[in-house]
Amino acid sequence: MAGKIPQPFIDQVINQTDIVDLIDGYVELKQKGREYTACCPFHSEKTPSFTVSPDKQFYHCFGCGAHGTAISFLMEHEGLQFVEAIEVLATKLGLQVPQEAGFSKPDDNQNQFHALDLANQYYRRQLRNNKSAVQYLKQRGITGQIADVFDIGYAPEGFDNLKKEFSDRIDIKTLEQVGLLAKKEEDRSYDRFRGRIMFPIKDTRGRVIAFGGRALGDAMPKYINSPETPLFHKSNSLYGLYEARQTRGKISQLIIVEGYMDVVALAQHEIKNSVATLGTATNSQHVRNLLRYSSDLVFCFDGDRAGNAAAWKALEQMLPEYKDGIDIRFAFMPPGEDPDSLIRDSGKNTFLQHIQQSLSLSEYFFKKLTTDIDTSTPDGLAKLANSAKPLLAKLPACVFKDLMLKELNQRVGTTVSQPSTLQSGSGSRSARSSSSRTPKYTKTRLAIALLLREPQLAKFALPIEDLTRLNPVPGIPLLIQMLDIIENNSEISSVVLLERFRGKEAYPHLQKLLEWDPPDMANREASFRGTMNRLKDDVRRAGLDAMVSKDL
Ligand code: UTP
Ligand code: MN
Repeated sequence: MAGKIPQPFIDQVINQTDIVDLIDGYVELKQKGREYTACCPFHSEKTPSFTVSPDKQFYHCFGCGAHGTAISFLMEHEGLQFVEAIEVLATKLGLQVPQEAGFSKPDDNQNQFHALDLANQYYRRQLRNNKSAVQYLKQRGITGQIADVFDIGYAPEGFDNLKKEFSDRIDIKTLEQVGLLAKKEEDRSYDRFRGRIMFPIKDTRGRVIAFGGRALGDAMPKYINSPETPLFHKSNSLYGLYEARQTRGKISQLIIVEGYMDVVALAQHEIKNSVATLGTATNSQHVRNLLRYSSDLVFCFDGDRAGNAAAWKALEQMLPEYKDGIDIRFAFMPPGEDPDSLIRDSGKNTFLQHIQQSLSLSEYFFKKLTTDIDTSTPDGLAKLANSAKPLLAKLPACVFKDLMLKELNQRVGTTVSQPSTLQSGSGSRSARSSSSRTPKYTKTRLAIALLLREPQLAKFALPIEDLTRLNPVPGIPLLIQMLDIIENNSEISSVVLLERFRGKEAYPHLQKLLEWDPPDMANREASFRGTMNRLKDDVRRAGLDAMVSKDL
């Protein structure tokens, strides 16, 4: 958790950031008139419906409805918190983030990250000195170059290497806290990883949060992982995600595998978009995380019985997370092979063939359900309907759900259940976005929209005292708040003004208004003055009403 960053600094960062530059680092933008377009990084599409406006410093996707500022982009696309997004933008601008006086960064986490980072560097150095470790990686087809990409290291034999190495720099408690030291008794801790190839697990910002260590030979257990720590939660960590995201700004597809070596071996064969679930069964948290980075997911499973069972379990976890516009597929390796062994023995093309032959969610769903059922009999069809129904009920209302129910009805030959109605809207982003594009036209709304687009129009606004008399009118308190902010920051820009409202109730409304383009936007000053004149009439009327009621 970072301390509080001073508001003027946040304003400066937002002001100096150019959203076009920022987003261009993730997707290739093409200029089209006053705006830039690209295929949307938030959903998969073939024709571009994603636009970035340098003028508004805002992006919008007409396909999925994603929209926002540079900060929103980092929060949504990178999964960052607000403060983290500011830190990333500041770093890009070469600015040092100041901490507000009285707040200091709680440095507990910092210590832990630091310890893990130093340990990682130590393991890296050890790998260079250890012939058998290097030999092991070589024999598994891993070159030094890929070992560098994944920061693979080696933990030497011995129980107190880390203590010896770091006695002057890191306290033992921190080494224990991050799981590098294991404890047998209260006062005796020792190196958890000994004689193992070390795979650092990183968070989305590239900081090491944990390790997996593989024995060089047949020693058991084959892998040892860091325990759960304040920084590491196994069930929602994905190995290789950081590295996958370094290769290209936008990951168009993610291949999900089971093990460290699968990710590394695929990268060794130029397939750099895979991540591993660290040996835990795919859960809904994984699916949610993965969907933040790509809407196109291919899950790899072993083609044997266990692999099939795992795939079906994963499918059950995915259903509640389903959204229209995503593509989830199931790829099955030949029995007994994992992606690592397959690509090593049979080559990249064979592996890619399996990815290409993967089954879509609906294909796998019906294939699996009809495998053990004789669908030529009414009993079989009833069985199919009964097993499919509760599963499909897990899907949120969306077009896909309707289509799945339709397909089920067709297969069973009767109406199992009514479609959830295509317009239900509750699940789909696009349904929300189409109505959000056109706010209802009112004077106040227009005034707010104009002011948001051009804060310097504030000089033509009515005095705040006058506006206060209109207070019960919706929007007026917001207009007053905005004028108040502008009064104290006369040079404020449109996005900075918008970002001042992040987290507040008004934020989504303001976002919509920033995109709103009624004809009055053409000549903003005239429109704003006109609106103010009309509000002045309202103020006068309000004043008269007040006088009249006082007289009575
Ligand atoms: P596998 O047993 O499939 O290992 O476990 P692997 O990835 O093919 O390993 P290699 O190829 O023999 O080196 C898959 C994943 O399950 C976790 C690890 O994350 C591993 O990558 N696992 C496995 C453990 O955590 N502990 C173990 O003892 C075994
Ligand atoms: Mn393997």
